[in-house]
Amino acid sequence: MTTEVRSCDQEALTAAAELICAGELVAFPTETVYGLGGNGLNPEAVQKIFTVKGRPADNPLIEHIASWRMLDRLVTKVPEKAKTVMEAFWPGPLTCVLPASDLVPRIVTAGLSTVAVRWPSSVDAQRLILEADLPIAAPSANTSGKPSPTCAEDVLEDLKGRIPMILDGGSCCFGVESTVITFVQDPPMILRPGGVTKEQIEGLIGPVEVHASVLTAVDPAEHVPSPGMKHKHYAPKAKVIVYRGSKALSAMLEAYDTCEYEGGKPWLFVASQDQDRIGTRRSLFYGNDGEDLARHLFHSLRQMDSEGATIILCQAVSTEGIGLAAMNRLLRAAEFDVIDVC
Ligand code: TXA
Ligand code: MG
Repeated sequence: MTTEVRSCDQEALTAAAELICAGELVAFPTETVYGLGGNGLNPEAVQKIFTVKGRPADNPLIEHIASWRMLDRLVTKVPEKAKTVMEAFWPGPLTCVLPASDLVPRIVTAGLSTVAVRWPSSVDAQRLILEADLPIAAPSANTSGKPSPTCAEDVLEDLKGRIPMILDGGSCCFGVESTVITFVQDPPMILRPGGVTKEQIEGLIGPVEVHASVLTAVDPAEHVPSPGMKHKHYAPKAKVIVYRGSKALSAMLEAYDTCEYEGGKPWLFVASQDQDRIGTRRSLFYGNDGEDLARHLFHSLRQMDSEGATIILCQAVSTEGIGLAAMNRLLRAAEFDVIDVC
């Protein structure tokens, strides 16, 4: 199959919507990461998503909507707190887990009685959903296990020849996936941190819980409310190590030099303010804070991989605000290999 890459003009959006309605898959931009979309009411189309991504069948998908009417059809109940949060942050990088209606195919929810729903703020994504006039089931448009794609080129790298079309809407502004929060319990619980922060949500509805797996490893045998949390995620080919604490950079430079001396090909991924201390070492800079790390993390991991890095040494950020999402993805990419140097 040839994969067409088209910019998001009206003609391309109409063609993409037609493909979705015909049961085919299209990769499309959102404000978080690119999605691999199919008709969210058609089990065969959804099966294709699992096949193309190589996604484990026990990991449910998010239904993407662009109207309140679409939400009403997918869920049976919207608790008051969920309503408050949705009204404040939709459209946006927030996914709400709610009791599923019978209309949602079981393959979407991986057999759970709940469904994850998100109304993206990306205008291109909204136009695609409205043009197809269907909820679009979409995971991130990467091969399962690899870093999520934040530009059309990254989607092409993973899915070339496997889907008919990629809509190119440029780089995603958040760079990490949406916040997933479940409202089937009270207080609600954040299952995956993302673009809408815990602080923002608590400012509206009071305390919310954060699942333990957000910053610590989960035993694969343990029952988890969001099956995605136990799967290997965001991993580049190179080994990733996270350095945390006030002396992190010195320890990273030392580890880099040792690795190079031993014949490896290390790369540094560090804050821009430390640029002067890096010298001629191979490096990428993510900016200054959690928001910058989130925006650049996935693409930078892919870039360092393509340069043949054997080891990637990353400097941690604070877990405040969107830093929690950035650190969650970074720790998973590192398979929780962290060195604290204070
Ligand atoms: O920003 C995003 O959310 C992107 C864009 C494309 O919208 N999508 C995305 O989808 O990240 P995916 O499939 O890569 O991640 C969905 C996450 C998984 O961790 C999955 O386990 C969880 O949402 N999830 C889906 N349905 C769920 C449910 N019913 N209960 C609990 N967790 C659920
Ligand atoms: Mg994903």
